[in-house]
Amino acid sequence: MLRIGLIGTGGFSKMHARILSGMDDVQVVAVCGTSLAKAEAFALACGIGSSYESLDDMLDGERLDAVYILVPPMSHGEYEMKLIARGIPFFVEKPLGLNTEQPEQIRNEISKQSLITSVGYHFRYTDTVDLMKQLLKERPIGMLTGKWMGSMPQVAWWRDQSKSGGQFLEQSTHLVDIMRYCVGEIDEVYAMYGHQVIHKQYEGVTVPDVGTVTLKFKSGVIANISNTCVLPDGVGKTGITCYTQQGILEWDPDRLTMIEAHETTIRHKKVNPYVVENEAFIYALKTGDTGRILSDYADAFKTQQVTVAALESAKSGLPYRFN
Ligand SMILES: NC(=O)c1ccc[n+]([C@@H]2O[C@H](COP(=O)([O-])OP(=O)(O)OC[C@H]3O[C@@H](n4cnc5c(N)ncnc54)[C@H](O)[C@@H]3O)[C@@H](O)[C@H]2O)c1
Repeated sequence: MLRIGLIGTGGFSKMHARILSGMDDVQVVAVCGTSLAKAEAFALACGIGSSYESLDDMLDGERLDAVYILVPPMSHGEYEMKLIARGIPFFVEKPLGLNTEQPEQIRNEISKQSLITSVGYHFRYTDTVDLMKQLLKERPIGMLTGKWMGSMPQVAWWRDQSKSGGQFLEQSTHLVDIMRYCVGEIDEVYAMYGHQVIHKQYEGVTVPDVGTVTLKFKSGVIANISNTCVLPDGVGKTGITCYTQQGILEWDPDRLTMIEAHETTIRHKKVNPYVVENEAFIYALKTGDTGRILSDYADAFKTQQVTVAALESAKSGLPYRFN
């Protein structure tokens, strides 16, 4: 039986706890939160045996085979380093943090002991993303566009730039990651962000509510990802469009639409990528075979570098070039 501990008591802790508790040979045995009361309430709601108010207490009190780090962007760093120091594998939700300095240090420490890690870029595990990746290998690509157009998540930390890092780093990071996964590495980033509506509508908003980011891949392919959080709830569009010599591939979280000269084919998503990403991590813990993990910490770090570069570019007004 694999014994798992969770850090964080929010919406996504619930999601992972539900998936893990449905697996054979896996038990979520402990949770720690920002207070004992929150951890206890979470443990009670999810049927978890033990609750703690600090990671140190949880690690001293339990034998754990792995830990899930499910906290907002501003709360990363110390948890990862403590787990690395004790040699405990971890799954961590995206994004890796607010900057690149701390994640780079974590990445370097992980590489010294080949620790098993996995990062929650779950779209990589979707069958339609896999198909899009295969098709893009065979087709000369013109360009890509991506969009994450939605409303502002109502959790308090999200609207604060110093806590979430803003929409591109927090949400559109998924699109950057899918593009990297399908097309390769990025070497130039040029971003423009703006504050149009949301800061007038809600108290304490410091995140931009519109943004557009141009990306250049090492292969020469160019892309644009635009995002906004000004829309009302229930009105949103998220996806990637690939313009290729054979036609258009239009991906969204539910389907891949292939538009060619004489026919349009729609492939609906068949798997729950959150389940598949959890199975991949658990399989790696059981067997030592990390082959099913599609996003480990070192790879996710490269996505983090792009989203942080976008922040730098938006600040400076200049393109950001990687060496
Ligand atoms: N992969 C995905 O599709 C996806 C979807 C949603 C959220 N997420 C990510 O998961 C992370 C958590 O999001 P959420 O929706 O659960 O947020 P949430 O606001 O619902 O919950 C966050 C929880 O973390 C706790 N927390 C904050 N700082 C902490 C700290 N230092 N130590 C321990 N706990 C702390 C808060 O008390 C809260 O319980 C975010 O980084 C988010 O981007 C990923």
